[in-house]
Amino acid sequence: MATAIPSLDLDPFDPVVLADPFASHTGLREAGPVVFLPRIGCFAMARHAEVQAALKDFETYVSGRGVGLADFSREEPWRPPSLLLEADPPLHDRTRNLMNRVASLASLRKIMPEWQAKADALVARLVGQGPFDAVPELAEAFPLSVFPDLIGLRKAGREHLIPYGTIAFNAFGPRNALLVEAMEAAQAATAWVAESCKRENLRPGGWGMQVYEAADRGECTQAEAERLVRSFLTAGVDTTVNGIAAALHAFVQFPDEWQRLRADPSLVKRAVEESLRWGGTVQTFFRTTSRAAEIAGCHIPEGSKVLLFLAAANRDPRRWEDPDRFAITRQASGHVGFGFGIHQCLGQMVARMEAEAVLGAMIPRVAEIREAGPVRRRLNNTLHAIDALPVELVPA
Ligand code: HEM
Repeated sequence: MATAIPSLDLDPFDPVVLADPFASHTGLREAGPVVFLPRIGCFAMARHAEVQAALKDFETYVSGRGVGLADFSREEPWRPPSLLLEADPPLHDRTRNLMNRVASLASLRKIMPEWQAKADALVARLVGQGPFDAVPELAEAFPLSVFPDLIGLRKAGREHLIPYGTIAFNAFGPRNALLVEAMEAAQAATAWVAESCKRENLRPGGWGMQVYEAADRGECTQAEAERLVRSFLTAGVDTTVNGIAAALHAFVQFPDEWQRLRADPSLVKRAVEESLRWGGTVQTFFRTTSRAAEIAGCHIPEGSKVLLFLAAANRDPRRWEDPDRFAITRQASGHVGFGFGIHQCLGQMVARMEAEAVLGAMIPRVAEIREAGPVRRRLNNTLHAIDALPVELVPA
């Protein structure tokens, strides 16, 4: 006997829900292991065990039909699909292996001292200067000072990176006002990104050029290389900006945790991991069932869109004790903030290193991260984004 799947009258892309997604997560998790959302015509999972199981079963829950609401077998995607995120094996095996070699830990370790020096200088400037908005001045400023150089992007036009990410992450949702406005505002960004992915615009030694060198060795075509470089630009900026903002916001809300980190700086890696679990930067991704699926006794028909609530899974009380609490001593590994399985985030070490550099710069210099005004959200169909985070960094 199949378990009945409850329907929930929830539109996850409603602006009210997007403004405070965590408020709807308890209802989603408690309704059942699988729920149906008639307002968007999709199935959904929000418990850690089922979300992780679906991410693992890449043959049933495929990505090639899009990881947003649109089913690419029925609708034309807004741009040529990603050869990583929106691809299934065997194509995904080939592109991912190639990209894993480029985005290697060894190459990141080499540049960490340079990143740390940049973070130290940035934080030293901000400490003691009075209230400022930590989103543009820290959470955006730091990734933009290191990531485009890592890829080898041209200098002019880098301000287009964040608006481009905003379109891409809105595009995983419905064609609502958020997407339409982002697309209208960022036509220039789309054109700039397309140009920037071309070989002649990439600097030697950067990760972008290394993708083309893999193409020279026959690991992919030149056209594929261009699209693979685009993956770095789409996925690598808005995510880390909001990841760093979420970490700062966590310490603002849980000031004792900042003191704990200052008392024991060796907790910095754990603190970053916990902020990724708690912050819910990437809220959701979709899959499409390639065949009839059975999960937790529930039947999901073939060709169904399934919305996986990563952020809800990361605060599932079945998996985490006191899950809404940000606790840097917690063992947060096992969170699905970077996904799980074959599509698990390619840039996770970049994201971790950026956040560690920022916190590492703050630990010796900042006695207290003081709230200096209300946090303002930037609504996005996929990201839990922060628009403004007024703070004051009290010098140590
Ligand atoms: C805090 C920062 C970040 C978060 C929270 C994040 C989150 C995620 C998640 C949840 C996925 C899985 C998508 C899925 O299963 O459908 C993913 C995949 C991916 N991420 Fe990240 N990401 C971050 C930073 C980055 C950075 C810095 C880069 C680039 C250097 C990057 C590149 C990618 C790529 C290319 C994929 C697709 C991988 C594949 O399909 O094989 N991400 N990311």
